[in-house]
Amino acid sequence: MFKHIATSLLFSLAALAQDIVYTPIHNATTIYGTWSSGSGGVKTGPGFANPADRTFTYPNTTGISYSFTEDGFYEIARYRYTSNGSHPLCITGVMNWCHGTYQLMPNGSIIMSPFGDGFQQIQDACAAVSKFIETYNDTEYYTAWTIFQDPVLGYQLILDQYDGTPLAQQNLVTTSPDMLPTQNLFNVTKTASSDLAVSAGTRTLEWSFSSIAGLTTAVVAAGMASFAL
Ligand SMILES: *[C@@H]1O[C@H](CO)[C@@H](O)[C@H](O)[C@H]1NC(C)=O
Ligand SMILES: *[C@@H]1O[C@H](CO)[C@@H](O)[C@H](O)[C@H]1NC(C)=O
Ligand SMILES: *[C@@H]1O[C@H](CO)[C@@H](O)[C@H](O)[C@H]1NC(C)=O
Ligand SMILES: *[C@@H]1O[C@H](CO)[C@@H](O)[C@H](O)[C@H]1NC(C)=O
Ligand SMILES: *[C@@H]1O[C@H](CO)[C@@H](O)[C@H](O)[C@H]1NC(C)=O
Ligand SMILES: *[C@@H]1O[C@H](CO)[C@@H](O)[C@H](O)[C@H]1NC(C)=O
Repeated sequence: MFKHIATSLLFSLAALAQDIVYTPIHNATTIYGTWSSGSGGVKTGPGFANPADRTFTYPNTTGISYSFTEDGFYEIARYRYTSNGSHPLCITGVMNWCHGTYQLMPNGSIIMSPFGDGFQQIQDACAAVSKFIETYNDTEYYTAWTIFQDPVLGYQLILDQYDGTPLAQQNLVTTSPDMLPTQNLFNVTKTASSDLAVSAGTRTLEWSFSSIAGLTTAVVAAGMASFAL
């Protein structure tokens, strides 16, 4: 009998390693809707990016926002600053927007495949060209996602990046996703005549907020208006 229990235990552990079972521990509510970190200054949908002419509206605070529809579409809006350790005045600001289709994998990971009209704006206080726009078309892989209910903040989404480091936790802003139309929105005609410096190159950006994850949580918990990067 003991052997039988041990075997079934082993079997269930093996099953656990392969397939995520969606329970309230894994997701206290559905992932569908719009999520935003900190004070919610950064949000997907109209008001952040205009992919037709590749422009951004700068929010008042930095942060990240993710939206998911029930039928497999996602959108991401991100704004962050990084300071330069050796040159404290050389602050880099990055605005990033993209959308596409996502898949919730059986092992609990998420794969997000972009439509190809994603873009980002880099502002480098010390670069020769202080402001430029470039294509952003990276497929993003998240190893895990968790939704828990905070007694004060409500539902919180945590996405773990490819290397396992969690992104800043995000509040559920709306249960219906707030998104731009779910198709390629890049207007080639218009952008060709634009005076923005467009670079075809892509650069690797790590959207890692891990180093300040604890701080972010503390700031959010304290009810402060923004989270500083
Ligand atoms: C998450 O949890 C809810 C409630 O337990 C469930 O109805 C839903 O299907 C789950 N899955 C996703 C992808 O949100
Ligand atoms: C930024 O804050 C100002 C003053 O509170 C407000 O008028 C403006 O709409 C805000 N901008 C955004 C993009 O939220
Ligand atoms: C989870 O599944 C994805 C897609 O099949 C795969 O690429 C990834 O390696 C898997 N992750 C683990 C930890 O097994
Ligand atoms: C963007 O990436 C997707 C997925 O890798 C690819 O199918 C598509 O061709 C890319 N689009 C552009 C414009 O590079
Ligand atoms: C810091 O700024 C200097 C001057 O612009 C630059 O050469 C250096 O690459 C920057 N360092 C980082 C880590 O961005
Ligand atoms: C693209 O931009 C051009 C020039 O501004 C405009 O005439 C055209 O209607 C736009 N097309 C779309 C699909 O937005």
